[in-house]
Amino acid sequence: MSETEKITAGRTPDPQTVVVHDKHDERHQGSVTVPQYQTSLFSFATYAEFDHAVAEEPDRPMYSRGNNPTVQQLEQRLAELQGGDKARCFASGMAAISTAILAAVRTGDHIVCVSQVYGPTRKLLENFLTKFGVEYTFADGTSLDAVRSAVRANTKLFYLESPTSLLFQLQDLKACTELAKSVGALTYIDNTWATPCFQNPFALGVDLVLHSTSKFIGGHSDSVGGVAIGSEELIGRINESEYLLLGGVMTPHTASLTMRGLRTLPLRMERFEKNGLRVAEAMEQLSHVLKVHHPGLPSHPQFELGKEQMSGYSSLFAFETDLPVDVIKRWADHLEYFRIGVSWGGYESLVTVPTLPEGYESAAGPVVRLYIGLEDPQLLIEDIKQAFEKVT
Ligand SMILES: Cc1ncc(COP(=O)(O)O)c(C=O)c1O
Repeated sequence: MSETEKITAGRTPDPQTVVVHDKHDERHQGSVTVPQYQTSLFSFATYAEFDHAVAEEPDRPMYSRGNNPTVQQLEQRLAELQGGDKARCFASGMAAISTAILAAVRTGDHIVCVSQVYGPTRKLLENFLTKFGVEYTFADGTSLDAVRSAVRANTKLFYLESPTSLLFQLQDLKACTELAKSVGALTYIDNTWATPCFQNPFALGVDLVLHSTSKFIGGHSDSVGGVAIGSEELIGRINESEYLLLGGVMTPHTASLTMRGLRTLPLRMERFEKNGLRVAEAMEQLSHVLKVHHPGLPSHPQFELGKEQMSGYSSLFAFETDLPVDVIKRWADHLEYFRIGVSWGGYESLVTVPTLPEGYESAAGPVVRLYIGLEDPQLLIEDIKQAFEKVT
């Protein structure tokens, strides 16, 4: 046991230490950052070595569609931070999600999925997996009874996203995973909103954790990527078939950018949490704001559940307004410190007025999604107020 291992033995690792402390690897000659292995293949000195690697070393880099040391370094850090055994990185969050789902089901199987899931994930089930005879039911994730009623004899997967990323609804993760286990189904979760810093779904029985690293993990709005984290056995299963065959892998360049982002993830999340809550609380006091959907506000219907299963909150939330869509879009035009654009998790504040898809009938008026970046939150609040004054 090394000195550091002796000091940390038995203690829960501090997230900021996990992301900055690399085990020294002599292959890199003491380089502090892991170099970008910008290569498609890795060669061997002898044929015997090559044969041994093929037969015995599944993690040995041979070809970058399988293993690349720059990507593997990121995978190790992400697995450790999220508390899983192993991780695989992908070209995008959707590549991780689609590959992992394809690995869990076959023709005739059924998926229970939360109804407010991320739009493209919903489309994957509705328009794509149905081509291969995979069935699905969308269930209101806020109701365990609705989730239970959605289960069929052929259910093989529960797909969760908590909180969801438009109205920020939660699922009771422990209750859902117990239900899934009782019917022999796996549970996957999209954990992008909470990040590994604020939610550990493994502790609540989830089998596979997915993230779009394009958001908080990358953190600088300069990369698109995804990750799946789980047990050796489950990641091994995904790895052997769908990962290698579909080939939606992360490049070493993206892994390098993502690793740089990851180094400050816990630090940034502290600031995002403070900024997001401060602006959300201020929004609740404003006229033309009917309701603020932020799981960290006591007014959120699942505030208590959120406190039980999350240790903090990120800074993407939404509000409903009594202003018509065209007026609220003009309001967005008047904002000086918010850019208009999709995505979130970077340093910059963003605003969108999404068209609500099926499953959002409860909203009383147009929904505005705000992403609060690293700017001074008071400045953002003043900005929001001045834009309201201009349009009302
Ligand atoms: C909650 C959530 N999950 C997954 C994704 C997909 O990630 P990517 O855009 O990296 O494919 C997104 C992207 O916006 C998202 O918001």
